Amino acid sequence: MRACFLISILACLLLTGCAANPLTDKSQPDKVLPRSDPFARNKLLTKSINLGNFLEAPNEGDWGLKLKASYFDSIAAKGFSGVRIPVRFSAHTAADSPFTINTDFMDRVVWAVDQAERNNLATIVDLHHYQEIFADPQNEKAKFLSLWRQIATRFKDYPASVFYEILNEPHDKLDASTWNVFLNDAINTVRAVDSLHTIIVGTAGWGGISDMNSLEIPATEQNVIFTFHYYEPFHFTHQGAEWVDGSDAWLGTKWQGTSDEKNKIILDFFQVKAWAQTHNRPVLLGEFGAYSKADMESRIRWTSFVVQTAQADSMSWAYWEFASGFGVFDPQNDSWRKPLLQALLP
Ligand code: BGC
Repeated sequence: MRACFLISILACLLLTGCAANPLTDKSQPDKVLPRSDPFARNKLLTKSINLGNFLEAPNEGDWGLKLKASYFDSIAAKGFSGVRIPVRFSAHTAADSPFTINTDFMDRVVWAVDQAERNNLATIVDLHHYQEIFADPQNEKAKFLSLWRQIATRFKDYPASVFYEILNEPHDKLDASTWNVFLNDAINTVRAVDSLHTIIVGTAGWGGISDMNSLEIPATEQNVIFTFHYYEPFHFTHQGAEWVDGSDAWLGTKWQGTSDEKNKIILDFFQVKAWAQTHNRPVLLGEFGAYSKADMESRIRWTSFVVQTAQADSMSWAYWEFASGFGVFDPQNDSWRKPLLQALLP
């Protein structure tokens, strides 16, 4: 009996590699996390961080940052469970149909996903900064769908710890009703090649909560996570932000953590929770953060309270962002900003 047991363990180690990590076992991705349970999948993203300003710059490096393998190691070592990787795919394709994604660029995205996987980090591949589609959706639709056909084809055999986020912060001419149609078509495009991976979708109002009630996720598609972005109070989180007109006037705004300030956040999150319960969708707070021009004490208080509220509401979260203007990591000194990190991971 005992010998039999030992032999079977030995055989198992030799043949199947019992030590294989279930999240990164490419041979049986669907067995690990059944596609019927996006709530279980969402847990992989429980404590995530955005790798902002890397692959979402017009070209990697243009915004002062290049990805390094060591960043992924460090993120995992600190205890994050996942990374959201914003990618400006739209700027790296052939000009004409079928809008083939540049091979070197796609390989770089694959490299980044592989680094995450090597560290057992879940990964969101996020279509980011597709500016042209916000100005002229109909003209961009074929390219948008072609991007998703190519991305899903490239990652379809990856484990279930890879997620697809259809589009960051739709807005402008990509209004709520247009977005519902585009979303439906993008989901169908992904599903034509990939029935496994969980899809992440947000609202047409810059991914915020104001447009939640106009969002229509096809009822037949269960393998979806709802995402929202949270930067309230905006005058606090975006004070002095160079890309927001007039934001210099908000410099000096603090967040003290008064009951009124906290209640506003609790109520906003309550609305999201209520929406999610009605629609039976898991929730990812996909971006939140306060810009470095706010005072550090306020940033820490606000970040910590947002994290606590999200967790109390069973939401996963992804902090905006790793190493740039909101950064919890200082790339110059290769070191973490400890108090901010502690606000995220106490
Ligand atoms: C945008 C970033 C911006 C951040 C906070 C993101 O979705 O892509 O450019 O820094 O939101 O405003």
